[in-house]
This record gives sequence, C-alpha cells and structure tokens, in this order.
Amino acid sequence: MEFQRIHPTPGRVESAELYRDLALASRAHDERPWLVTNFATTADGRATIDGRTAAIGDDGDTELFRRLRTQVDALLVGTRTLATERYGRVVRRPELRAVREAIGLAPDPPVAIVSRSGVLPYEIPLFADPDSTVLVFTTPAAPQPPPTAATVRLTRLDPAALTLTTALRLLRSEHGVRALLCEGGPTLLGSLLHERLVDELFLTIAPQLAGGGSGLTMTSGAPLPDAADLELVWALERRSSLYLRYAVR
Ligand SMILES: NC(=O)c1ccc[n+]([C@@H]2O[C@H](COP(=O)([O-])OP(=O)(O)OC[C@H]3O[C@@H](n4cnc5c(N)ncnc54)[C@H](OP(=O)(O)O)[C@@H]3O)[C@@H](O)[C@H]2O)c1
Repeated sequence: MEFQRIHPTPGRVESAELYRDLALASRAHDERPWLVTNFATTADGRATIDGRTAAIGDDGDTELFRRLRTQVDALLVGTRTLATERYGRVVRRPELRAVREAIGLAPDPPVAIVSRSGVLPYEIPLFADPDSTVLVFTTPAAPQPPPTAATVRLTRLDPAALTLTTALRLLRSEHGVRALLCEGGPTLLGSLLHERLVDELFLTIAPQLAGGGSGLTMTSGAPLPDAADLELVWALERRSSLYLRYAVR
C-alpha cells in the first residue's frame, strides 16, 4: 500500500518496503527488549469510540499495524484490550508470516500478558488457536488456566515482584524476546511509561473527531512526574490519516 512520506525525506513509500526490516531486535537493551507501542487516536485524542478501536482508523492503519507485527519477537497486550478487541491469532496472513521468517523471526509471535488478578479472557479466539503461544506473568494466587488449544506458559511471581520491568526482563532473559510490541491499552501504556520502558511510539492520528470532554485517551493512570519528550522519526500520510513514529528521548 502506498503512503506519502512527509518526514524525513518527502516522497512516496510502499508499506511492504518500509516495514520489510526495521531491525528493531538489533536495538534490544541488555536487560530488556526494545519496546515499541502502537496506538490510534482521533484528532481530538480519543482512543476509543463506543468503547472500541474499530471505528478509529481505516485500511491504512490496519495495514501498518499488521506490518509492525511482522517486526517483533513478541506482543504485550493488556487484559482488558485482549478481551474488548477479542484477540485471535496475531499474524493471520501467511505472506506476513513469511515476512517474519525472512528476517529470522518465528512465524507466530507469542503474546505476553501481565496480570495481577490472573483473571484472563480465556474465551477469546487467541486461546483457541493451536498456533498461538501466550506467556502469562501473574501471581501464585492466580487461578490455573483451563485447557486451551493455544500453548499457555504461566510464570508465577511474588506480587511484590510482579512489575512490568520484571516481566520485560524475563521476556528477554528466559524467552529470548529482543523486540516487543505493546498494543495497549491505555492503562498498560501508562504503567510502562511510569516504569520508563517505552522506546518508540507508532501513532496513528485518524481524521475524525469523537467529541465529548471525557473518555479514554492513549494513556491513563497517574500523570508522569516529568513529561516524556519525543523525537519524530518519520511522518506518513494517506487519505488524511497521519502515521507518526516517535522515539522516546
Ligand atoms: N486506540 C488504541 O490504539 C487502543 C489500543 C489498545 C486498547 N484500546 C482500548 O483500550 C481499552 C482497554 O484499555 P484499558 O486501559 O482499560 O486496559 P488495558 O491496559 O488493556 O489492561 C489493563 C490491565 O492490564 C493488567 N496489568 C497488569 N499489570 C499492570 C500494570 N503494571 N499496569 C497496568 N496494567 C497492568 C491489569 O490486569 P489485572 O487486573 O489482571 O492485573 C489491568 O487491569 C479498550 O476499550 C480498548 O479498545 C485502544
């Protein structure tokens, strides 16, 4: 699919070419994966319309978030996002699994979940998919998972040790995850920012206004003690949508 690049070098770009190999894994930190996040908001900053993301963004957004999934070892998703968006197999199209394999990644990235309650949406399609692997970081009190077609690996940690920092460390050291993509939601992103774990942000600004003075934005929870500064890596445009890639300074 063709996009107009506005920054750094203006010109037309093909998404397949641009996302063929972002070399995210090569940027891994020694102690944790390189963490990129992907979000879409309306121009007035809302992360949902009627409680879901489906109405935000068009096929250009779908194309780019699917392409970004081809570039990471694993995904990290909040429990409420998994349930609301009813996640299934993460890379469904065989040609996109082939893109992963061409850069040395496994065809299907595992999905990592951090849950203090251990109450997971086992009814979503992801758990019924035999090709999917789910890595769950939770506490000793979490209920035992039901039988699932997906491979579920539970790591039980003392509640005091169950931070996102610890989970990311274990993903790197025990599961070989070098590049990790967080797809939300706002609660999870808020906590990742507090623990200073976010390296890059892929942000779609959809040409829509949701209106209303309240509602979910890209982050929730307590404000950061100091605002995080961003640097624009690229800006793309297609059909009035903006696709921004920022590095967190
Ligand atoms: N526009 C977008 O791009 C976008 C992207 C994603 C999601 N969304 C929308 O966002 C909504 C869901 O987001 P949400 O903010 O309600 O929930 P969320 O971030 O998806 O999930 C939050 C849950 O993650 C678990 N968690 C574990 N450790 C955590 C930690 N240290 N900090 C924070 N959470 C931790 C908690 O589960 P336990 O209680 O089990 O511990 C917590 O309840 C949905 O409406 C979805 O459609 C929009």
